Amino acid sequence: MDPLLKLENVSSFIGPFHILQGVNLEVFPGEAVVILGRNGAGKTTTLRTIIGLVPASDGQIILDNIDLTAMPPYQTVRQGIGFVPEDYGIFDALTVEENFLIAMWKEDQDTFDRRDHVLELFTDLKESYKRLASTLSGGQRQMLSIARALVNDNKIILIDEPSKGLAPIIVEKVRDTLLTFKQEKTIVLVEQNFEMACAVGDRFYIITEGRTVLDGTIKELMDDEELQRKHLGFVTA
Ligand SMILES: Nc1ncnc2c1ncn2[C@@H]1O[C@H](COP(=O)(O)OP(=O)(O)OP(=O)(O)O)[C@@H](O)[C@H]1O
Ligand SMILES: [Mg+2]
Repeated sequence: MDPLLKLENVSSFIGPFHILQGVNLEVFPGEAVVILGRNGAGKTTTLRTIIGLVPASDGQIILDNIDLTAMPPYQTVRQGIGFVPEDYGIFDALTVEENFLIAMWKEDQDTFDRRDHVLELFTDLKESYKRLASTLSGGQRQMLSIARALVNDNKIILIDEPSKGLAPIIVEKVRDTLLTFKQEKTIVLVEQNFEMACAVGDRFYIITEGRTVLDGTIKELMDDEELQRKHLGFVTA
């Protein structure tokens, strides 16, 4: 089976800084792949480079046999990538409904049907549908950001640290949401919350100083405390 998403030796710069220096990644259809690594390792930059927000300077990015390497973001998202950024990326001055409508770039019946389906899953958003996004709690904002990525017929969803800054009980809710749609979607998840990473992920990649240095199954990672200590700086209880 061919990977749905493949990054081969990808490099990218932010200004003069050579941030990604060799990222290799394969994501197969239906998988949830977790990207792990210490602060500043290049996890967010990897997602931003896939989308094209940071241009790749070397290497190749392929999604479903389409070369994304030189594509600008407005085209990459139309190839079927949903992006849930770290800061949610929602519009505070707009209502929940308007945030949905902006995301729904294909205004066909299927998209509206998916929107209705997503609102059944995210009951908080259904209740606050006509309210300004600025009135939502942190957890609801995260849910809106995830929901927005689900309204389009995306082949893959990239999610950057969905647990960050949320209370443990809300993190559990986010985890359950990811577990629900993991059954239908292919996911790339950046996550420093080890429990969340292990609950959602099938395989992992570790990034160190802009390079993928190791990959394996989540089970291999959970069984290997030395690996956790060396690359992630902690051991689980
Ligand atoms: N706008 C910028 N200007 C200069 N350097 C940057 C910029 N954005 C990121 N970097 C650097 O790029 C490197 C990778 O950053 P990135 O945000 O991808 O890391 P990360 O793995 O997502 O970290 P975190 O766990 O803190 O979210 C870091 O060393 C960071 O300082
Ligand atoms: Mg980050």
